[in-house]
Amino acid sequence: MILIICGAPIAIWRRVRFSGAKHLKITRRMHCVVSVQFYAAFARRQKPFGTDIFSESAMTYTKINYGLDAPPICYGMFAIGFFGLIVAILSPLFVSDLLLLGVEAIACLMAAYGVGMGIYMVWSSRIGKLRTCETLMNEIGRIRPWKGDEIVLDVGCGRGLLLIGAAKRLTSGKAYGIDLWKGEDQADNSPEAPLENAKRAGVADRVEIKTGDARQIPFAPEAFDVVVSHWVIHNIEEENDRSIALQEIWRVLKPDGVLALADISFVKAYLDQIKGWNSKSISFYDGGNEAKLMGFLSGGTFRPQYLIVKK
Ligand SMILES: C[S@@+](CC[C@H](N)C(=O)[O-])C[C@H]1O[C@@H](n2cnc3c(N)ncnc32)[C@H](O)[C@@H]1O
Repeated sequence: MILIICGAPIAIWRRVRFSGAKHLKITRRMHCVVSVQFYAAFARRQKPFGTDIFSESAMTYTKINYGLDAPPICYGMFAIGFFGLIVAILSPLFVSDLLLLGVEAIACLMAAYGVGMGIYMVWSSRIGKLRTCETLMNEIGRIRPWKGDEIVLDVGCGRGLLLIGAAKRLTSGKAYGIDLWKGEDQADNSPEAPLENAKRAGVADRVEIKTGDARQIPFAPEAFDVVVSHWVIHNIEEENDRSIALQEIWRVLKPDGVLALADISFVKAYLDQIKGWNSKSISFYDGGNEAKLMGFLSGGTFRPQYLIVKK
């Protein structure tokens, strides 16, 4: 058990490359072997997070980096946590006995909050959002079964999570991604990153990238069968601009097309806006307990929810 727990992060950390689902080709130092084998066994036999992110290919999972979201906030959380930790450790040296208990309590709370939120953000970028991607793709398929010939748009594709998730379901279809490649919204954000990830996922022939703003989508009206967007629109500061982005998304979606729109805030506002249009169906997922807890801990700024809409 200990080997499995230790082996997985070590194997990922050392970026061991796998050549296929059955054969492990270890390109780094041989002393990774034990941890690699334990990780591979762990990845193949179990679905520890209740999704198929590992089962499709443990190899793909280790090879593709979909990027840390909101890196300045994530690092800020860790900084708050470590500051709290240092104050908790050092406060007996410079705080009077009268205040010590209060200072220690606040410092410990800061440490727990900062480190906890930081770890959650890393987990969510590395694992949580991969699960959400699979869920969204399945939800789209429930409303409009995937045929493989769809033309898909990922608005704010970043390093290509949903873009590639959709491309994996295509045969003759194509997945387009647009983005403004903002580094503060996603680490190592660039037009090359989703292309490289698409290559690693084996879907490069079904993917195209463009630089473009969600408020002015560079495509013709009714060009797409499916439009997806994950954690993008909240980055647009002005309410009016967010509304324009939604109108743009609606403009490029074909009648009977499906929109999957996931975000960490404002999702109810999106719902209200879309309700005013003539959609055939709308489902709102409130995010369950995770959204309630994270919404509470973040003061309402982080509440992951999504909409599935048929135009
Ligand atoms: C948190 S990242 C999410 C990326 C990707 N959808 C994912 O889930 O991994 C937010 C992305 O939105 C992009 N973005 C922010 N404002 C945008 C805008 N107005 N138009 C297009 N993309 C935008 C950022 O550059 C960044 O790539």
